[in-house]
Amino acid sequence: MKVTIIGSGYVGLVTGACLAELGNDVFCLDVDEKKIALLNAGGVPIYEPGLQEIIQRNRAAGRLTFSTDVAASVEHADVQFIAVGTPPDEDGSADLKYVLAAARNIGRHMTGFKVVVDKSTVPVGTGDRVAAVIREELAARGLEDLQYSVVSNPEFLKEGAAVEDFMRPDRIVLGCGADAAGRHAQATMRQLYAPFNRNHERTFYMDVRSAEFTKYAANSMLATRISFMNELANLADEVGADIELVRLGIGSDPRIGYSFLYAGAATAVPVSRRMCRR
Ligand SMILES: NC(=O)c1ccc[n+]([C@@H]2O[C@H](COP(=O)([O-])OP(=O)(O)OC[C@H]3O[C@@H](n4cnc5c(N)ncnc54)[C@H](O)[C@@H]3O)[C@@H](O)[C@H]2O)c1
Repeated sequence: MKVTIIGSGYVGLVTGACLAELGNDVFCLDVDEKKIALLNAGGVPIYEPGLQEIIQRNRAAGRLTFSTDVAASVEHADVQFIAVGTPPDEDGSADLKYVLAAARNIGRHMTGFKVVVDKSTVPVGTGDRVAAVIREELAARGLEDLQYSVVSNPEFLKEGAAVEDFMRPDRIVLGCGADAAGRHAQATMRQLYAPFNRNHERTFYMDVRSAEFTKYAANSMLATRISFMNELANLADEVGADIELVRLGIGSDPRIGYSFLYAGAATAVPVSRRMCRR
């Protein structure tokens, strides 16, 4: 299938390279000319085990293109992934200006049906905002009848194991609309992700808001575990206990498990504020 990835940063580059490795024809867009020049010169701006080889192999096979050409990126594919950054604003909430700018570009250039996939981590309701800016741009061009559907497909990869996480996901979360365009989008995404579901179904299909919420719920559960372990580590110091022995003692309970049970820095921003922005 043909796929466009908007934003060739950590998530976008790994997503684009891995989808090309699966045989798709992938166009990776970025506004950062230096990054695109580096990628076109054979360089890779981040280090991830296996990524450089995948990029080299798929560029050589003609399945992976890097460009700053917005019109060409929209033209390239029916499936448009948005994988741009969502940095925290002054109050800690996610800044959506890059996501909405990417959506606006799609609306400005599209001439046929598009599946617009939010892969960036975004607050609940962002899918509606993405749909609204595309609608605005289509209206400005007098093309209100052009169809599109916004899908939420949050990313769960970990830096340092990004290729492995993408190629062997625990789960794929797909939030789609219930109307005809949403059902068409879901069928398209099912086809794109079919290689991951050969052994058993790993995709959880849901509505867009539930998918957006799932990503924040997962992040906050992980942050909660780290924060809780930090509190326990402070208490352990006070009472003369060894937190590492306590970690082993509680992690052995399968209801608790060992993962994400190390004391360390967690989010300083109340998760509810990050989730609830407009
Ligand atoms: N890095 C991770 O481990 C990770 C994991 C899961 C989810 N996420 C989420 O994925 C999203 C992307 O994160 P990242 O780490 O890949 O960010 P990043 O900063 O590495 O990359 C974002 C890229 O988008 C480009 N960009 C910005 N606006 C653009 C536009 N209008 N058109 C084209 N390109 C544009 C930037 O130049 C940059 O190269 C964020 O929402 C993040 O929270 C990140």
